[in-house]
Amino acid sequence: MSVARYFDEMNYGPAPEADTEVRAWLKRHDATFGHFIDGAFVKPNSGVYIDSMEPASGAKLARIANGNAADVDAAVAAARKAQDRWAKIGGPARARHLYALARAVQRHGRLFAVLESLDGGKPVRESRDIDIPLVARHFYHHAGWAQLQEREFADHVPVGVVGQVIPWNFPLLMLAWKLAPALALGNTVVLKPAEFTSLTALLFAEIAAQAGLPAGVLNVITGEGPTGAALVDHPDVNKIAFTGSTEVGRLIRGKTAGSGKALTLELGGKSPFIIFDDADLDSAVEGVVDGIWLNQGQVCCAGSRLLLQEGIAEDFLARLKRRMTKLRVGHPLDKAIDMGAIVAPVQLKRIQSLVQTGISEGASIYQPDLALPKDGCFFPPTLISDVQPTATVMQEEIFGPVIVAMTFRTPDEAIALANNTRYGLAASVWSETIGLALDVAPKLQAGVVWINATNLFDAAVGFGGYRESGFGREGGKEGCYEYLKPKAWANRKPRKVTEQPQLQTAPGGFDSPALDRTAKLFIGGKQARPDGNYSRVIVSPAGKLVGEVGEGNRKDIRNAVAAARGAEAWSRATSHNRAQILYYIAENLSARASEFATRISAMTGASSAKAKAEVEATINRLFSYGAWADKFEGAVHSPPLRGVALAMNEPIGVAGVVCPDEAPLLSFISLVAPLITVGNRVVVVPSERHPLCATDFYQVLETSDVPAGVINIVTGSREDLTKVLADHDDVDALWVFGSKTASATAEKHSVGNLKRTLVDHGLEIDWTDPAAAEGPILLRHAVQVKNIWIPYGE
Ligand code: NAI
Repeated sequence: MSVARYFDEMNYGPAPEADTEVRAWLKRHDATFGHFIDGAFVKPNSGVYIDSMEPASGAKLARIANGNAADVDAAVAAARKAQDRWAKIGGPARARHLYALARAVQRHGRLFAVLESLDGGKPVRESRDIDIPLVARHFYHHAGWAQLQEREFADHVPVGVVGQVIPWNFPLLMLAWKLAPALALGNTVVLKPAEFTSLTALLFAEIAAQAGLPAGVLNVITGEGPTGAALVDHPDVNKIAFTGSTEVGRLIRGKTAGSGKALTLELGGKSPFIIFDDADLDSAVEGVVDGIWLNQGQVCCAGSRLLLQEGIAEDFLARLKRRMTKLRVGHPLDKAIDMGAIVAPVQLKRIQSLVQTGISEGASIYQPDLALPKDGCFFPPTLISDVQPTATVMQEEIFGPVIVAMTFRTPDEAIALANNTRYGLAASVWSETIGLALDVAPKLQAGVVWINATNLFDAAVGFGGYRESGFGREGGKEGCYEYLKPKAWANRKPRKVTEQPQLQTAPGGFDSPALDRTAKLFIGGKQARPDGNYSRVIVSPAGKLVGEVGEGNRKDIRNAVAAARGAEAWSRATSHNRAQILYYIAENLSARASEFATRISAMTGASSAKAKAEVEATINRLFSYGAWADKFEGAVHSPPLRGVALAMNEPIGVAGVVCPDEAPLLSFISLVAPLITVGNRVVVVPSERHPLCATDFYQVLETSDVPAGVINIVTGSREDLTKVLADHDDVDALWVFGSKTASATAEKHSVGNLKRTLVDHGLEIDWTDPAAAEGPILLRHAVQVKNIWIPYGE
């Protein structure tokens, strides 16, 4: 064959990466791995192993242990034993360990990259140039947070022992995303990698031990779903961090409900890739290649829904199809391929079946005529068009190299289509008009938005979802808080439950009775009669009737949620405007301070001095949130590229709030104020026992210019209304304080739409202590961070 011919054809030959080192490492272990517990490999208690296959050939690569509950127990015990010492060595000492891990990853970069590609099927070009450098970057970045922990997180302590369950699509990168912040901030970890791809985690554990990581700080147990479930169920685990399918995420939410375990979930996505008619179309084509064919589309934030502005749709699809004919699918270790193998036969079948569903629902399919390797799990790049927004392929996460295209006419339509999904992980927006792109980005329900780019990641920039894509963030400062708990909440005691006082009735006299003022509910800015037409008596500790309130029910909550939904303009109001209204509420409360104090005394039996102090503290709290309104801001990150990432604190939407009985006015405002400060609208169930200061508050609200629907108040049973709020799919967040059972109900019933919950598990908070009940400690839970990436330059 002549050189001239090569020049003529410009074809790539295969450029295989050698796997000698990986094979030698496997051989050293007899290609058989136990769990990594307390600093060493140990045989599984079960004695059972599962095969780990090479997706590109179907050949067996290694045997890994299939862990059972006893294995999990041993790993958790090792992590528990190490946790206190690991926390106590301090941030700077832990920083040294994390630097050492970062360096070790770099030193063994090639070994990790080749092993990752063999085990998971992704092109080695990707593992070498994307996964492994990002892994190292995560350890470096979090070494920095460890170094700064005592200053930057002085009012927080580590969560403790963390169970982490990760998927197979970015095995080592997901390990790094979870491990780096957990270890940096003083937690110890039991990690369960995915059954298809456990090998790089085992290699990492071995190398970490060689790099001096103390025994027990990182433990790796391998196995299938039940092994992960045993970790989730373990009573001595303080937090679960999970990445994987929404289905398993839901299961885990349900199982951890009421256990007191902290939880973060990074779940699926169906991310829109929006191309406006003024976009640079050739760049956008490359964007799509990266957005959907990176890692064969097995990416939670893959740009799998292509939304094209009508005028350019035909041209764009023609260019895209042309580009698709040039993609190369081949062996993952071939450095000249674009796409490797699908992780396992089961995943290949799932992709095939979803594409088949698309065809049977009437969609058109385009697949270029590419040569696929004969053995192993391969699927060609696929473009689906002619679909309705409700089509299965438009709604379901396919998790494969399949993109589904449709068109839109106006920016508003693009936004509506983009948000027409239960997910909310990421979005890409392509337009040369920066004003348009920056207008669209905040309107997208997604945790990450890339402008004229896609799939950019960095350790300094948080990542995580809105809605059913899960909650919690990984990376950035917000990701660090997921592995910390406030000092002020660390030693809370269970609330003492006291008997509800009984009404002592006395015969009436001949004086004219007091005017009946049974409090109604407050919905959509108006006082409303309860739907059920029942009321409940409010009794003082001495058994005296203090008043009556409406007994709210499911329908009242539904009306209140609808009113809150309708008050969407509040979320868009300026922070200055919201601050003014908070100050105004404070002023109006101040004008009626003595009336409120009298009411608190009558309801709770508190001395008049104590009741006055509670009202004063409430006024002060409102002023504090007025102050915070325009100061709880996001950040501008400078990731290692030409550009910035804007971390925006966005409201979550409609929040349910269930208040405790202690300090009934102060706790009510302490929970409502942070939520509305940042633009949420609320449906509040005030203290069940002492609700009258909340119903008296209607008049304060009516005179303070609070827009209708921003604060809705439904009195009634804490337990019953908590369940109704938790079940309601139009409630985005739920804060429940005041009882252990209501906390558990809130977590358990929030699985439907995966609400963000904040509950007290029946532990008492000192509402008068600003460190425990005011400011960022609650504001952080009232927002979700959206990161908008804006690369710039030619
Ligand atoms: P999966 O959610 O079942 O697996 C993820 C991890 O959870 C694995 O380590 C697995 O062993 C573990 N796991 C499974 N059941 C568990 C349980 N009951 N308790 C605790 N841990 C458990 O995901 P799978 O089956 O690998 O893939 C199924 C689908 O999920 C894919 O087709 C894809 O659509 C989606 N997926 C999404 C990912 C994402 O990053 N968003 C990652 C992986 C899969």
